[in-house]
Amino acid sequence: MKISVIGCGYLGAVHAACMAELGHEVIGVDVDPAKISALEAATAPFFEPGLPELLASANASGRLRFTTDISEVAEVDVHFIAVGTPQKKGEFAADLTYVDAAVTSLLPYLRDGALVVGKSTVPVGTASRLAELVASAPVDAMLAWNPEFLREGFAVKDTLGPDRLVYGVSSGESGTRAVSILDEVFEVALAHDTPRIITDYATAELVKVSANAFLATKISFINAMAEIAEATGADVTQLADAIGHDARIGRRFLNSGLGFGGGCLPKDIRAFRARGEELGLGDSLAFLGEVDAINLRRRSRMVDLTREVLGGSLDGKRVAVLGLAFKPDSDDVRDSPSLDVAMRLKAEGATVIATDPEAIETSRRLHPELDYVRTAAEAVVGADAVLVLTEWKNYRELVPTDLDGAAGRIILDGRNCLDRERWRSAGWLYRSLGRP
Ligand code: UGA
Repeated sequence: MKISVIGCGYLGAVHAACMAELGHEVIGVDVDPAKISALEAATAPFFEPGLPELLASANASGRLRFTTDISEVAEVDVHFIAVGTPQKKGEFAADLTYVDAAVTSLLPYLRDGALVVGKSTVPVGTASRLAELVASAPVDAMLAWNPEFLREGFAVKDTLGPDRLVYGVSSGESGTRAVSILDEVFEVALAHDTPRIITDYATAELVKVSANAFLATKISFINAMAEIAEATGADVTQLADAIGHDARIGRRFLNSGLGFGGGCLPKDIRAFRARGEELGLGDSLAFLGEVDAINLRRRSRMVDLTREVLGGSLDGKRVAVLGLAFKPDSDDVRDSPSLDVAMRLKAEGATVIATDPEAIETSRRLHPELDYVRTAAEAVVGADAVLVLTEWKNYRELVPTDLDGAAGRIILDGRNCLDRERWRSAGWLYRSLGRP
């Protein structure tokens, strides 16, 4: 099929490359010429395992190209909207400027029978409003909402082999046509028995935000248990293992530590709450305020713990921070708990030497004032304390002799990812969140 992907950020760039990989003829559109030139050269504008290889093979196949000129989509059958919906400045609500602009810019170029497919995460009610906009086009075009559930670090795998497909469509004949077009787009996944759920617009929009709200709640639940464990001498990691054996609870997404960050979970729960309030249903989603608060408290707790182990003040102390990305296998530092903690330590007078396998450049762009070095061994030289804040594999596998250069023998495990006994038996003071 002929497909366009409007917006070539995280979601769009991966989606465009994967659609081409599946055999479709794809054109990616973005307003940022630098991003488009990078993608044309098969350079991913962010770190995502497997994406550079996929871009290279898709570009070489001739099935994938990129442009800044929206008029080039005029021959396309299916247009995916994959632009961002960031948090509004000074508010919790989502900023829909880019989604509205993308759909509006498409209108003059829609051909008869074209399908516009929303992928961006939007507040419930957006799709039905956009459907009216699409219906105002001079041709017979339709809208569907097809939320995306990919995880950074696994984005290619999740897009090529999603664990479910949700099609939010209008009722009646145009909805049936939209379903058959989407079935053609996702033919390969459907042939592998991927569950497909057909819903109305509102349900499709809510599936996405409620999935992220549930995941955020699960993480904050275990982090609330970590707070109780800290006060009572219990071990939250054992607690998570034990309750996780109950299949109804499950062990995944029960890792306690510094909590969630990134470009999705934090802003999505805030936007969901804001939407609840607009709908007069603030009480139904008030718990998400608590989920957010528990999550943010973990960062303060990490700073408090660092101050405590360093004798009550951070002023003049040297602290090594290992990990800046919001999670491993990503260079994304949007709302990163690790980077936030690093900045707070610095604000209290510590000299922070930070490192990350992939996120130094992205961190430097936001916070040029931090000191960055390439490796953990360099970061710890002369450090009074070492903090592991993102659980990259090479940090999980560190052994005490790797950090011989440190001045102090204090290691703080912000992700409960290190072998406590290994560090203690080598004479280190090991502390973590939620474990004695
Ligand atoms: C999240 C969802 O997992 C995806 O399904 C969704 O498609 C995506 O948002 C989105 O809306 O686009 P992502 O932001 O890539 O994906 O990251 P996650 O793997 O969900 O991790 C989010 C944060 O939670 C990270 O900071 C991670 O360190 C933290 N986390 C995760 C925990 O603190 N504990 C856990 O047990 C799991």
